[in-house]
Amino acid sequence: MRSLVPFTHGWLFNADYTAATIADQGAVGTAVTLPHTAVELPFSYFDETTYWRPFLYRKSFEFESGWAGKEVSLVFDGAMANSKVFLNGDEIASHQDGYTPFEVRLTGRLKVGSNLISVVLDGSENPRIPPFGGQIDYLTYAGIYREVWLKVVEPVSIGNVKIETPDALATEKTVTVRVTLSNPASAAFSGALVATIRDAAGAVIATVEKAVSSEEMSFSFTGLKGLTLWEPNAPTLYTLDVTFGGDKVIERFGFRTAEVTPEGFKLNGKPLKIRGLNRHQSFPYVGYAMGKSVQERDAEILKHQLHVNLVRTSHYPQSKHFLNRCDELGLLVFEEIPGWQHIGAAEWKAQAVDNVAAMIRRDWNHPSIILWGVRINESQDDHDFYAETNRVARELDSTRQTGGVRYITDSELLEDVYTMNDFILGNEELGGNRPRTALRPQQEVTGKNHNVPYMITEFGGHMYPTKIYDQEQRQAEHVRRHLDVLNAAYGDSSISGAIGWCAFDYNTHKDFGSGDRICHHGVMDMFREPKFAAFAYASQCEPDEDVILAPVTFWARGERNIGGVLPLLILTNCDEVELQYGNYPPKRVGPDREAFPHLPHPPVIVDRRHFSAEELGLWGMRWEAARITGYVDGKAVKTIHYADDPVPVELEVVADAAELDGSKKDSTRVIIRVKDQAGHKLPFLFDPVTISVEGPARLLGPSTVPLRAGATGFWIETTGGAGTVKVTVGLERLGSKTLAFSAN
Ligand code: GAL
Repeated sequence: MRSLVPFTHGWLFNADYTAATIADQGAVGTAVTLPHTAVELPFSYFDETTYWRPFLYRKSFEFESGWAGKEVSLVFDGAMANSKVFLNGDEIASHQDGYTPFEVRLTGRLKVGSNLISVVLDGSENPRIPPFGGQIDYLTYAGIYREVWLKVVEPVSIGNVKIETPDALATEKTVTVRVTLSNPASAAFSGALVATIRDAAGAVIATVEKAVSSEEMSFSFTGLKGLTLWEPNAPTLYTLDVTFGGDKVIERFGFRTAEVTPEGFKLNGKPLKIRGLNRHQSFPYVGYAMGKSVQERDAEILKHQLHVNLVRTSHYPQSKHFLNRCDELGLLVFEEIPGWQHIGAAEWKAQAVDNVAAMIRRDWNHPSIILWGVRINESQDDHDFYAETNRVARELDSTRQTGGVRYITDSELLEDVYTMNDFILGNEELGGNRPRTALRPQQEVTGKNHNVPYMITEFGGHMYPTKIYDQEQRQAEHVRRHLDVLNAAYGDSSISGAIGWCAFDYNTHKDFGSGDRICHHGVMDMFREPKFAAFAYASQCEPDEDVILAPVTFWARGERNIGGVLPLLILTNCDEVELQYGNYPPKRVGPDREAFPHLPHPPVIVDRRHFSAEELGLWGMRWEAARITGYVDGKAVKTIHYADDPVPVELEVVADAAELDGSKKDSTRVIIRVKDQAGHKLPFLFDPVTISVEGPARLLGPSTVPLRAGATGFWIETTGGAGTVKVTVGLERLGSKTLAFSAN
């Protein structure tokens, strides 16, 4: 029997310790539960060097008699950045990557009675470990920030299962499986391995039984009929369970093909333009230390709120919970190794090559992952190094293409796909005398005289940082830039698609961002509240999926330079939009296909063309309320009102979940919005909000926070046990609201 149980509770944490504490079971420490961040940071303006040092985690546990004769180990899903693991004071393992899992074997070393696991975890930006050694424009934090598991298996167990679907598009399909056994004590073994494919409901599709004679074996299922493809809008998943000698492993997989070609990207043989965003896995206060439900929520936001079809896990392998959710949602993933511009010396490169292997071995069964990033993001060419990362990737996984993100032109193409960060838009130096250019033609970038598989992996970002509380006009330009690049990518069949920088604002080093330790590069802020640019992406989905009607305005006469709200950009997938200003005659305007000919859904742009001289002369008169209605197939599908005299009337407090799992550290986000009579956030309301939490949960971050652009957010996390959690949010001028959660 395999037992894999959370090893997340009952840890003691010491920010300061001596060598003697490592082995001291009785030493005091702060009780913590994983995932955990070593140093909680303020929202902004902090000293990021506070976590660049070692910390100690300890946990006592009792030997169980049932472990005799078994393999016992700990599986760390992720710890940043440099871990040394001790058992009863003896160092037994170390791991030098903050993003990939590692397993620590305890077998033969455990005492009967009480044992002590200690982890010395150094959060320093150790120049021997990727991504460190240069500067990076994001934070990596410190801590055992993902789960740890206690694994107990038979001496010979199932180590890894790799599933491939070589002819996914055929009517009769094949599934190829490679099972690697784990046999650390070189025990003798025999017996049979049984592998069963099931559909999502658990119904058996096929079973094979194989006599086992070696530690690695491959076999195939053939002629599988009636199976469904994994598609973005219907991501059908199957499971394969493998049993051997009382051990059982269940893996999920899907049938799909994915190929970037010189003529664009094809999923399941059909062209699909990639419309994506980059994601950092960080959150306010606790950095990387967010568990399953918050990781899953990010995938849901990308898929259902931002309506993108791909996410790039910039710049490292991200949480398995996030990737699992991408599989379930049909959200494509481009995953890459840790790194940022800097390439270190030989030992560092060897670690990066190991990171390629660790990433692929962890994640090769995810149907959502379509591309492996095997270059250090935005590094210079380095033939031998990248020949090796590509070789390792191809050897481990011949079914996926490699990419390697660069911003340099004429770069040596060792990968299958030229993945390019094209920051031409707004770049005087690169742009030269040419007119506003959204993307360069691929051959200008690659320096080749023929097209190659090509994808835009970043644009925007630092070229036009935009805060959620920035002036409307700046936000409108922010929107236009995202639209311009998407439009250019849609218009060029040799570009597979474009992945914007980035989904969410993120904390950063002093050397980057706005001085507040934030890169305001997201189309959403750090709470995942949308800026207007979020709707540049969302509005490209079809209205039967979600009707988007997002005018880029705060609806005020004097917010823009000179005044007025024109040109008014309305991000929408409606066929037509009607604007009614006060009691003046309504204007019906369609999408601006001239300005954005290639977008699936160009924005509606209402400007001076649509008004008479008399109407335009209304400036200086009374400001009026407005109504904007979207039409699809001639029917009104959504209406938005604007007040001419907005004042706060509603305190909205919404949580992502109503229930929390008290048996583990479970978190949920709460968003606070202060709205006017027409239901809009008050963009320049910065009043303080108070937050209190009662019951078995705690608040992450401070209990008094400002609204930012009329909204703010926070997360609560369970502290253990069942009960009712009450969260009360107060705003002096509107009173308070309480949400109740049940922790089970
Ligand atoms: C890129 C880099 C990203 C981020 C972005 C900001 O050069 O790859 O990590 O820094 O710029 O726009």
